[in-house]
Amino acid sequence: MAVIAKPEANTLERYIDGLCSIWGDGKDPQLPFKVKSLLEKLLASTKPDDLWMAQLIAEAEPARELYRDPEHGFIQMGHVHKEGHGNKPHDHGPCWVLYGSYTGVTEITTYRRADNGQEPGKAIVEKKDLHRLTPGVVYPYLPGEIHSTRAVQAPAVVFRFLSYDLERVKRYRYNPENGTVAQV
Ligand SMILES: [Fe+2]
Repeated sequence: MAVIAKPEANTLERYIDGLCSIWGDGKDPQLPFKVKSLLEKLLASTKPDDLWMAQLIAEAEPARELYRDPEHGFIQMGHVHKEGHGNKPHDHGPCWVLYGSYTGVTEITTYRRADNGQEPGKAIVEKKDLHRLTPGVVYPYLPGEIHSTRAVQAPAVVFRFLSYDLERVKRYRYNPENGTVAQV
């Protein structure tokens, strides 16, 4: 009997399989850290000339959805950022997020709220930490954690894992210069 070999899964497909196998009900507080190690493995095991990665790098889109899970709702994004690409401090509402670098260097600043949050539209945020994402490094940001990102060495190929679709949650963007906050 002839045996037809199944084509071997690529590193991205194996990563997605890994995510699905650990996800459960999605409520395990350790999940961000479990996904972190899967994402680190993906970054370490993918070669720049692996077809899917070569395509992502060649297309150089600022944002590409690589996978959206129809059952659990998590999303894996791939980004290629030019030097200086960045954003204002923001949170991801009730979602958690991982940022991981494949090439280049991305700096992520985290912030703490320094006011009591009582005045609508106002927010004082101050810098807390600076994370430097060099190739292979992944950082988790938990629900409500305020952060901003900036590509300091390009091309910055960045993987962003979202525990849920950000378009469907209430979240905020902060302006530290004038002390304001607005819903995204
Ligand atoms: Fe973010």
